Amino acid sequence: MHRRQFVLGALGAGLTAGSAPAFAQAGPKECTRAAIPFGAAIRVDLLRDDQEYRRAVLGHCQLVVGEGGLKWFDLRPEADKFVFDQPDRLLAFADANGMRMRGHTLAWYAAMPKWTEAISTKKEAERVLYEHIDTVVGRYKGRIPSWDVVNEAVSEDPTAETPMRKSIWQDLIGTQHVELAFRRTAAVDPKAQLVLNDFGFENPTDRCRAKRAAFLRLVRNLKDRGVPLHAIGLQGHLPGEQEIDKDGISRLVAELHGMGLSILVTELDVIDDKLPRDRAIRDEIVASRARAFLQAIGDVCRPEAVVTWGITDQFTWVPIWFRRKDGDPNRPLPLDANYRPKPLMRAIQEFTRAKA
Ligand code: XIL
Repeated sequence: MHRRQFVLGALGAGLTAGSAPAFAQAGPKECTRAAIPFGAAIRVDLLRDDQEYRRAVLGHCQLVVGEGGLKWFDLRPEADKFVFDQPDRLLAFADANGMRMRGHTLAWYAAMPKWTEAISTKKEAERVLYEHIDTVVGRYKGRIPSWDVVNEAVSEDPTAETPMRKSIWQDLIGTQHVELAFRRTAAVDPKAQLVLNDFGFENPTDRCRAKRAAFLRLVRNLKDRGVPLHAIGLQGHLPGEQEIDKDGISRLVAELHGMGLSILVTELDVIDDKLPRDRAIRDEIVASRARAFLQAIGDVCRPEAVVTWGITDQFTWVPIWFRRKDGDPNRPLPLDANYRPKPLMRAIQEFTRAKA
């Protein structure tokens, strides 16, 4: 089937819109030309300590998400201690500047503090997860409009036997932990947009095809059981050396949107460790991957937001795992290390504005 026919067919399948958009009414900051709100993952201390960083966030972003702060290892150093300093400061910054804040994330396999290793029963795991959601979502009720409730629940290399990623939640509660987390979050803040966030869908590989299939099975099961799941977060950590599977992504998005789910791009960056060293060539390839990814989504539905995982190459998580062998700094983000816009920023702006 030709791509265009497929896409129009998918649209004609009576796709229903997702839940009420969480960011359509972004604060006064929203520029009328930027039809789709743009945002970035933020390192809160840099807002205070680095004026160029702060200016870049103020100049480009309509929404923000904490790169840290709401991860368990930041938030819960001890079982009976919550440290809200970072998310409180980010929310205050967002409120003061007409921006909205996303909450990331309530249940994940990673960034867990050591004390959680002592949790050994289903009953204890449920109690701790509920206590976390009640405390954290309760604190920001009505002020954080969208939560990544469960992050990266599906295995990176799913099989029929093990579709789900190993985590304290999956090990002790099972796949039902996803439903429990969503239902508890909805009970605490019935107006929040509840998002299932994941990555690894984007390329024409067996691994990505298996991931898309396993993810869709999980989502269909949740929706069939009436779980309050409102939107899907496509993280968008794109391997720069790999083609984008536009048809594969458009089919995934059409299926998800057909279930009444909104779509958000939540962590876009392009991992350039295997791309040419030449910066002009590399930057163009980075932009082309993002453009193809966004277009594959946009051909089916308007994503509610496009969020990059950082705003400047000066501060990116990418070298933690994908440092270049030639030692050249990674260039995964919309602004270079000196805050100059790159082709990736232009590709994002063309997309967000084109959807007016
Ligand atoms: C990463 C942060 O960027 C790092 O600073 C931190 O050390 C680990 O977590 N997918 C996610 C994000 O959902 O939460 C991760 O963020 C990057 C991968």
